[in-house]
Amino acid sequence: MRILIAEPQDYSAEALVLYRSLGEVIAEKTLSREELLSMISAVDVLVLRLAHKIDRAVFDAAPNLKVIACPATGLDHIDQALAAERGVTLVGLKGETDFLRTIYASSEHVMALLFGLIRRIPWAHASVANDEWQRDRFKGYELHGKTMGIIGFGRIGSIVAQMAQGCGMAVLVSDPTVQSHTAGVEHVSEDDLLARADVVVLAVPYTSETEHMINAQSFSKMKDGAIFVNISRGQLVDESALLSALESGKLSGAALDVLWAEERRPVVIAGDPLVAYAKTHQNLLITPHIGGATFDSMAKTEIFIAKKVTAFLQTS
Ligand code: GLV
Repeated sequence: MRILIAEPQDYSAEALVLYRSLGEVIAEKTLSREELLSMISAVDVLVLRLAHKIDRAVFDAAPNLKVIACPATGLDHIDQALAAERGVTLVGLKGETDFLRTIYASSEHVMALLFGLIRRIPWAHASVANDEWQRDRFKGYELHGKTMGIIGFGRIGSIVAQMAQGCGMAVLVSDPTVQSHTAGVEHVSEDDLLARADVVVLAVPYTSETEHMINAQSFSKMKDGAIFVNISRGQLVDESALLSALESGKLSGAALDVLWAEERRPVVIAGDPLVAYAKTHQNLLITPHIGGATFDSMAKTEIFIAKKVTAFLQTS
């Protein structure tokens, strides 16, 4: 059994021990696409995070591949139909509800983005790093007493709701898939949420149905001066409509951990209109899909996935 870990940086030692008990582990360095394509020919298990697009070329180069393991809930970077056709099993986190309830990284990142944006932290820090001490330039806003609207009440949305409540916010939730209502949270339609929320957080999985679910119409339904946070996937948002909403002042700010540009891997952001806007404005905060990237959550998810792969290989 040969196991290739394509993005081994800071990999959990415990997960590596589990993989080594299954066979030969190749975990040398973060692979470029060319390296991945050339190294995958004799590989049975491919372990990766989000850096690579696993498309036909990868499957064609991997005749022995049996398992692709990825410690993420969104596996849209993997051609899932082709995996099924080739008999390759995908091992991920989707549906692992009990385990995901213990993973806080992305929810904490929503709050980090939000605080960073409304307290203007990146720009205040850049000013200090420029030897300035200008208290009057960086007035912000508070969350207390405001309303957060969370679209998507899965693992991230439900933890964010508790955090927002802890900050003294009222919480609205819109998620047609949720049956049972949670105490302290008001379940409403998406339109109602857009009309009432001061902060709209998008935490919905990416599927063909959710592509562009936040578009010009959605922004027009939001309160004037609302804030928009995307922790899902860039593909859920019409980014030109988002840019227009920022330019017109309809939104007072936005914070994004994901961009449409991630459709292509490696991700090229040079020339991206939102990135260009962020360079010259102080109301758009963008991070490079680091929501899940804490040492704590990554170790937990890597070990969990390694155990799932072990169980799968032992029973198949
Ligand atoms: C991260 O983006 C995930 O889908 O888990």
